Amino acid sequence: MNDVLAGRALAKRFGRTVALGGVDLAVAAAEAVAIMGPSGSGKSTLLHCLAGIMKPDAGEVHLLGQRIDDLGERKRSALRRTRFGFVFQFGQLLPELPAEENVALPLMLGGVARQDAVRTARQWFGPLGLGGMEGRRPGELSGGQAQRVAIARALVTKPAMVFADEPTGALDQTTGHETMRLLVEVTKHNGASLLVVTHDPDVAAWCDRTVEVRDGRLLTGGVAA
Ligand SMILES: Nc1ncnc2c1ncn2[C@@H]1O[C@H](COP(=O)(O)OP(=O)(O)OP(=O)(O)O)[C@@H](O)[C@H]1O
Ligand SMILES: [Mg+2]
Repeated sequence: MNDVLAGRALAKRFGRTVALGGVDLAVAAAEAVAIMGPSGSGKSTLLHCLAGIMKPDAGEVHLLGQRIDDLGERKRSALRRTRFGFVFQFGQLLPELPAEENVALPLMLGGVARQDAVRTARQWFGPLGLGGMEGRRPGELSGGQAQRVAIARALVTKPAMVFADEPTGALDQTTGHETMRLLVEVTKHNGASLLVVTHDPDVAAWCDRTVEVRDGRLLTGGVAA
């Protein structure tokens, strides 16, 4: 098995709501997996459990064969910072920091000196079509440009896994669509695995595999073919 990330029998409830009713989902190295399903079906909860943001009530999560769901918050937080990249919500950039420092932030939080972190961060601007925008603050970027800065920030630490929860509404469709295409491409190009929640069949089609969530369970595709 070359699974990077594997969730087994994941269960989570909120009061009487069963958000996850026992889900198995494994993601292979450099594989992109789309998660689709109706609103309230448990997609975000699944992502949060797999990414160590939320502890499942039952089940296990393994990263490269090592169990991670039972780690304490400190260790899970360190793991999220070093091994995972997140594009959960566009517009999550820090408004007072220039774009290059927003991208450099995960490196600085990991102890890289500011100058070195910014130098590494700048290398992402050209490939993402952001050349010349390094010094702009998020308020001086278009929605699509800010999204690309968020992608750079998710990838700058060279994570094993990237998690993305596609925003609904707010963005115009073309920009959102293009951004997701870029996210899938750049993640693959960097050899990271991707788990992306999407409502867009095109985004799912760019991925290697799609899983369908209904009422906290997977209809199809939990294990790689
Ligand atoms: N913090 C919470 N407290 C209480 N209930 C919650 C909480 N988070 C999620 N839920 C419930 O769990 C179920 C699954 O929610 P989840 O956010 O995972 O759905 P989703 O598939 O991501 O939906 P959407 O497409 O609207 O984002 C829903 O019934 C939701 O109301
Ligand atoms: Mg959601």
